[in-house]
Amino acid sequence: MKIVSGIQPSGELHLGNYLGAIKNWIDLQENKNNFCLFFLADLHSLTESVNSAKDKKKQIEQLAIDLLALGLDPKKCTLFIQSYVSEATELAWFFNCVTPIGDLGRMTQFKDKSSRQLGNVVNTGLLTYPILMAADILLYKAEGVPVGDDQLQHLELTRETARRFNRRFGDVFPEPKALLTKTVRLMSLKNPLEKMSKSSENSYIGVFDEPKIIQDKIKAMVTASNDLFAKISLGKDELIIEPSKKGKDNKDFPAMAAAVDNLFTLIREFNPLQYKNLFNNGEVDLEKLKYKEIKESLGKAMIEYFAPFKAKREELMKDKKAVMKIYEEGAKKAREIAQVTMKEVKEKAGLI
Ligand code: ADP
Ligand code: TRP
Repeated sequence: MKIVSGIQPSGELHLGNYLGAIKNWIDLQENKNNFCLFFLADLHSLTESVNSAKDKKKQIEQLAIDLLALGLDPKKCTLFIQSYVSEATELAWFFNCVTPIGDLGRMTQFKDKSSRQLGNVVNTGLLTYPILMAADILLYKAEGVPVGDDQLQHLELTRETARRFNRRFGDVFPEPKALLTKTVRLMSLKNPLEKMSKSSENSYIGVFDEPKIIQDKIKAMVTASNDLFAKISLGKDELIIEPSKKGKDNKDFPAMAAAVDNLFTLIREFNPLQYKNLFNNGEVDLEKLKYKEIKESLGKAMIEYFAPFKAKREELMKDKKAVMKIYEEGAKKAREIAQVTMKEVKEKAGLI
C-alpha cells in the first residue's frame, strides 16, 4: 500500500503523538508491501506558531532527529521535509479552486484554533490548512494515511477533494483511507476528558522527558476512587468500566472512568505483562487495584522503554548535518513522484 503521513514541528513529542501516530508509522514501514512517505509538515506549522526563524529551524532539526531516534528508518521509508517539495503548495492551488469556502469554515480544527486566536487576526492559512494537507496526500496518490482521530475530518475532506478534482478535470486521484492506531486518542494527565496535547500544560509526558520527570508526572496523573466502580472488565477491543451505585450518583464518574481507561492504555502499551496481571478471567480485582503501586511500575517500564531511543537521540544530535542530509535525499525521491503527478494535473486542467 502507498502510505503518506506528516507531523508538524511545533514542540516536543509526547506520548499521544507517539502512540497515536509515530508508532504506527514505524509498524507500517516494517511491512515490505508498503511504500511509505513520511514528512515534517513545516509549512503547516507556520499557521500557528510565532517562533523566530532560529527557533523554527531548531524545531525542525529536533523533530528530524527525534523521528530517526524513535525508529523511522530511511532504508525502509522515505523521509523528507514538506517545504522541500514545493509541488505540494502548487497542487494546493488547484484544490483551492475546487473547494467551497463553506467546507473549510466547518472544520472542527479550524473552529477550535481560530477561536483560540481571538483578539488576533485569524490567518487564511488556518482556513486553507486542510487543502494543503489534501495536496500532501494526493500528490503521491496515497492509499493509506496513518493519523490520530483528530485528523479524520481533514482526511474526509481530502477524499472529497479527490472526487471534486476528478469530476471537474478527469480521473487523477485515488481516495485514500485512514489507518488508525489502537490508541487513537490518549487523554490529558490533568483533565482526562481532554486529549493529551502539547498546547495544554501538564497534560502530557514528553517522549524524551528525563526519568525523574516521567515518574513525577505519572505520580501526579489524575486517577479515581475505586468505590465508584462496580466492575472493570475487558471487552472485545476496549475496557468496560461500570459504575457502582455511588458512581452513578457522582458527577465526576465520567472523568474518573476516563482517567482509569487512560492509565490502563498506558500500561497496555508500555508494560504488557503488568497489564495481563491486572486481569483475572478478563476482570480486574478492584480490591487489588492500588494506583500508587501500578503507577510506580508503569513509570519504571516507560523509562526502560524509551531509554534506547534517548541514547540514539544523543548520538544523532552529534551530527545534525548528516541527519538533515537524510531528509534532503528523501525529498529528492518524493519530488520525482510529485513532478509526475503535477504534469498530469496541469495537462488535465489544460495548462500544458
Ligand atoms: P498536539 O495536539 O500535541 O499539538 P499534533 O496536533 O501536532 O499534536 O499531532 C501530531 C500527531 O499526533 C497527529 O497525527 C495526531 O493525530 C496525533 N496525536 C496528537 N495528540 C494525540 C493524542 N492525545 N492521542 C493520540 N494521538 C494524538
Ligand atoms: N495535520 C496533521 C497534524 O496536525 C499534519 C499533516 C499535514 C498531515 N499534512 C499531512 C498528516 C498529511 C497526514 C497527511 O497532525
